[in-house]
Amino acid sequence: MQQIPTKNKKVIEWVNRAAALCEPDHIYWCDGTEEEYERLCQEMVDKGTFIRLNPKKRPNSYLARSNPKDVARVEARTFICSEKKEDAGPTNNWAPPKKMKKKLGRLMKGCMHGRTMYVIPFSMGPLGSDIAQIGIEITDSPYVVANMRIMTRMGEKVWDVLGEKGFFVPCMHSVGMPLEKGKKDVAWPCNPDNTYITHFPETREIISFGSGYGGNALLGKKCLALRIASKMAKDEGWLAEHMLISGLESPTGEKRYIAAAFPSACGKTNLAMLIPPKALGDWKVTTVGDDIAWLKPKNGKLYAINPEAGFFGVAPGTSAKTNKNALASCSANTIFTNVALTDDGDVWWEGMTETAPKHLIDWQGADWTPDCGRPAAHPNSRFTAPAKQCPSIDANWENPEGVPISAFIFGGRLATNAPLVYQSFDWAHGVFLAATVGSEKTAASEGKTGEIRRDPFAMLPFCGYNMGDYFGHWLNIGRKLSMMPLIFRVNWFRKDTDGHFIWPGFGENMRVLEWIFKRTAGTIGAVESPLGLMPSYADLTWKGLDFSEQQFVDLMAIDKVQGLNEALSQVEYFKQFKKTLPPEFINEVSLLSLRLVRSNEVWKLPASAPMKSVAQKKASSTVKRKVKSKTVSKTKKTTIRSKK
Ligand code: GTP
Ligand code: SPV
Ligand code: MN
Repeated sequence: MQQIPTKNKKVIEWVNRAAALCEPDHIYWCDGTEEEYERLCQEMVDKGTFIRLNPKKRPNSYLARSNPKDVARVEARTFICSEKKEDAGPTNNWAPPKKMKKKLGRLMKGCMHGRTMYVIPFSMGPLGSDIAQIGIEITDSPYVVANMRIMTRMGEKVWDVLGEKGFFVPCMHSVGMPLEKGKKDVAWPCNPDNTYITHFPETREIISFGSGYGGNALLGKKCLALRIASKMAKDEGWLAEHMLISGLESPTGEKRYIAAAFPSACGKTNLAMLIPPKALGDWKVTTVGDDIAWLKPKNGKLYAINPEAGFFGVAPGTSAKTNKNALASCSANTIFTNVALTDDGDVWWEGMTETAPKHLIDWQGADWTPDCGRPAAHPNSRFTAPAKQCPSIDANWENPEGVPISAFIFGGRLATNAPLVYQSFDWAHGVFLAATVGSEKTAASEGKTGEIRRDPFAMLPFCGYNMGDYFGHWLNIGRKLSMMPLIFRVNWFRKDTDGHFIWPGFGENMRVLEWIFKRTAGTIGAVESPLGLMPSYADLTWKGLDFSEQQFVDLMAIDKVQGLNEALSQVEYFKQFKKTLPPEFINEVSLLSLRLVRSNEVWKLPASAPMKSVAQKKASSTVKRKVKSKTVSKTKKTTIRSKK
């Protein structure tokens, strides 16, 4: 018998209750050591859940293949069980807590027969820091244990920090497939017809049943660090967000941090680990986190930490060209799920190399050849890799104080009428821009391809309370700050009439980040458009990229009728929030409509003139006039501005 490693009565009682309900064959308290990890991985290799990859190609790495019915988060089966329905709000599935617990109690009776119940102590955020939260996950999935060891700070030390009376979030998980006597196990046990991902925000509890995949099962991530934490944050005056955090260091050595929210599979990991094009000079991008940010106001600023310790990154599309740092992060000590296996025991996915290998074993274990017409890796296949292996990891990524945020970036995947970048006029306008983000569905969010849905703050599937109150909370946080981050909207995904992306994206996004950086430093100007403040062509650095002014003007253009239709659809969208809708949003949508009504049929950036830096703008008008008389074409914008 294993000695119970904690004296925390609440933990012991809860584990005992869980065991009495689930009736596992054994209870195992995880210690988080490397030996334990290796032992569990070997057991999974022996059982067929894991395939050990070629240690010469991918040291200490494994491949898992899930049940084809268990490949992504299931939003339709995700519930916020607050006492009152209106506290879950119109965008969440709701069920009364008592009723849901009763239903889960029935489902979970004896659900761990023939299995071991693992108890995983973990910390979201640096262990012992004020900002961190302790969770304990109970699970019957060794796959979950192995992934949690990479994604969180897991192990014995958590018991010391928790002490006898400390607070923790109980996270109960079962794959929902008991092994009655004589029943043979499968490589990926799950129960897709009875899946429930449930949250009890008021009592800070999580119960998840039936799925072993990603955010459904690694409960520290979306369930604790977003859904439960967003409710804690609302109650306590901070923010829990679906955001990457990265550092930007200019060629002169000035460093600023940004946080960016894009919906699932829309480019957070890519932006977090961006490698700037050499032609831009000596810019550096460093990674603090790629998926979740916890932000707290302090001395008038917002400070952010990444509560996670690993990346659960989308594999397809990740290549040496698009994201070299992500590839390096998963070069060893990584768990791959639903990618393809090469003949020499390594992994492959669509987009990893330009030409596919001649033969592979696909994500379902079948032979695959390039002409077979099936994808080799599932579109939502993922790698679970330790963050510390990322070459661009920021020196402060584990700093419990967090990093000060200078800018927020929000964006989605939009093929039409969404410019590359614009800045909000002020905080309330920025909150409105974030609340109205729309995005096409991806493999991580399921649905018809091309269909657009609103994903406010990229938090639609992750907000643990009423989204209307969440908007209000963001407005309130702004009031507490004296140095609020600037807010931007971006869209890397605008397409031309042939259906090609207009913007090259990936590393080239640094050109946009450079403008954002300069805006936060107050060293560059902007042009007013109906949507917000924009860079002119001359405000971006084009060295090393063949992108004409005409292309840029098209990329930034705003169609008046489409814009007005969008404003109307925003009003429709807002109706559902009823009393919780911030009055500011009515104001913002009216102002947007007015700006559009007053604009041309197609609003376009004025022809280029090099923008003056703030310092230059302060200079006397005689200087301006001199410039004007010298180069007529370059002064157009200055002339327009001085007329105002
Ligand atoms: P989650 O982990 O699901 O929250 O998503 P994420 O936002 O971290 O997704 P990720 O960065 O892994 O996005 C992957 C998808 O976005 C891939 O299909 C990429 O090819 C695509 N992508 C990322 N950046 C760009 C870009 O700048 N341009 C284009 N066209 N595609 C991009
Ligand atoms: C997402 O879907 O936003 C993810 C993947 O980051 S999962 O952890 O499965 O939710
Ligand atoms: Mn995510």
